[in-house]
This record gives sequence, C-alpha cells and structure tokens, in this order.
Amino acid sequence: MGRLSVDLCGIELDNPVIPASGTFGYGYEFADLYDINILGTFSFKGTTKEPRFGNPTPRIAECASGMLNSVGLQNPGAEKVVSEELPRLKKVFGKKVMANVSGFSVEEYVETCRILDGQEQVGWIEVNVSCPNVHGGGMSFGTDARAAAEVTAKVKAATEKPIIIKLSPNVTDIVPIARACEDAGADGISLINTLLGMRIDLKTRKPVLKNVTGGLSGPAVFPVALRMVYQTAKAVKIPVVGMGGVASAEDVLEMMLAGATAVEVGAANLVNPYACRDIIRDLPAAMDKYGIKTLKEIR
Ligand code: SIN
Repeated sequence: MGRLSVDLCGIELDNPVIPASGTFGYGYEFADLYDINILGTFSFKGTTKEPRFGNPTPRIAECASGMLNSVGLQNPGAEKVVSEELPRLKKVFGKKVMANVSGFSVEEYVETCRILDGQEQVGWIEVNVSCPNVHGGGMSFGTDARAAAEVTAKVKAATEKPIIIKLSPNVTDIVPIARACEDAGADGISLINTLLGMRIDLKTRKPVLKNVTGGLSGPAVFPVALRMVYQTAKAVKIPVVGMGGVASAEDVLEMMLAGATAVEVGAANLVNPYACRDIIRDLPAAMDKYGIKTLKEIR
C-alpha cells in the first residue's frame, strides 16, 4: 500500500484521483495521451438503457472560472457499452472502472444496472440521480429524499457491485437526502453534480444554450462542493467521493480534509486532457509541503 492509496468500498485504489463521468468518455479515448492505468479509476460517460443523442446544440457555454453544459446524457446505450466500449477499454486499462448510470424511471435504473452488473471490469456503479439537463429523470430523483432512497434500494437489490449514489447540489439541505440513500443501502455517496445555471447572449437576447439552462462546473463551484462534501461526510458513515471544480493536487487534499475518501476531477479534463496525470504527479510534493505522510491519515 503506497502513501497515496485509499480504499473505496472495499476496493483499493493506488491513488484517490478519478476522472469524473462525462469528461473522460469511456477512457480508451485518453489512452493515446498517457497511460491511464496511473489513475485510481475513472467514471465512464453517463449510460442509459437506450442510446441517446442528447440535447440540441449549442449545449456548452463558457463562464468565468467554469462552464455550463446541457449535454443531456448522450451515450450509445447500455448494451453497446457492454459489447463495444468495455472491450476497447479492457485493452488499455487493467483496473476496475466505475460505471455511471442514469435513468428516467426506477425500472430503467434497475435494468441498466443489471446489464452492467455482469461485467467483470465494473468495480462500482455510480448511480446518477442528479443530471440537471433532462426532464422527468436524473435530478428529479436526487432532489427528493424518498425518490433517491427508492432508486437506491431497488438498484442495490439488483446488483452485487458497490453502489455509489451521485447527488445534486441543487437542494436546500443535502443531509436528509444523503442519509436516506445510506439508510436504503448505498455503499457510498458522490457529490456534487453541476449547479443549475443559465446565460443570455446580449446580441440575440436569447439563452446561449438551446436547452435554456445547463449545469455549471469548474473552479467556480469548488467552495460549494467542498461545503457539501463536508456536510455529507459528517452526516453519513459510508465513503464520500468529492467532486466539483477540483483542478490541482491541493484541491484534492482540501477535499479529503473535508471528508472525501476519493476525489473526482471533471471540467479540468476538458481544459487540459493531462489534468489527472498532472494532479497524481503533483500529489506527493503537495503532501510533503503540508506535512502529510499518507492520504488515509488526513481524512
Ligand atoms: C449531461 O449529459 O447532461 C451531463 C450529465 C450530468 O450532469 O449528470
């Protein structure tokens, strides 16, 4: 066990750095840039049962210190992920991957998790109940404690893998929602997904995003994410995976001090595709600078 290693729901990670879903494709796309086996793991693109084209464009907008996206869960569908994406990944990644699952009904979440549960390379299933860009699914489950608990319990009953529920920051109080997921059998919580936002183009006087609203991510959201990770980690006993605006080794340390067991890196990958490689490289020096011997000791 190295000084960077952490345990996430019973699976040892060489380090806590995990590219976040939607910013790292199905992983193999990055394998030409660097050896992705240096990662703790990564969370693959949000997958639904059926293929989805996503929302109409434009669906990305730049903001000060961040970006808005309204992608709308574009993905090839669970069967194709199993038959095409995972075999490609297997050739370049020898570790367990985190499967990210979305849905529009409890039954769809369950079906998709069942399909992915049979995959040996899937280590954890991250259940996204927090996508702000779709109607009648995603975030509507994660902003209501009872709905989040129902998805958790049904998904948990359908799979053998550890279940990590990905929560939304677009709520007044995260604690009852996180506790409801824990009580329903979640093995971990990850947060935060993006903050609901909007921009208007002054020339056209219309919203920049065709979908009108989108999710804000990037360094602008880091303090909000840190606060919500702290509140959640204090309230539950299961591991918390922190994310939201993480862009440096120092940000990873802050997240872990707030209570995160592991840390996802999202928008930073879109600015610099080497962001996770650089953060992993920089972690030992940052730990030395702040007198940290092992990551396990600071959480
Ligand atoms: C999307 O595909 O719209 C982003 C996924 C998410 O924010 O959960």
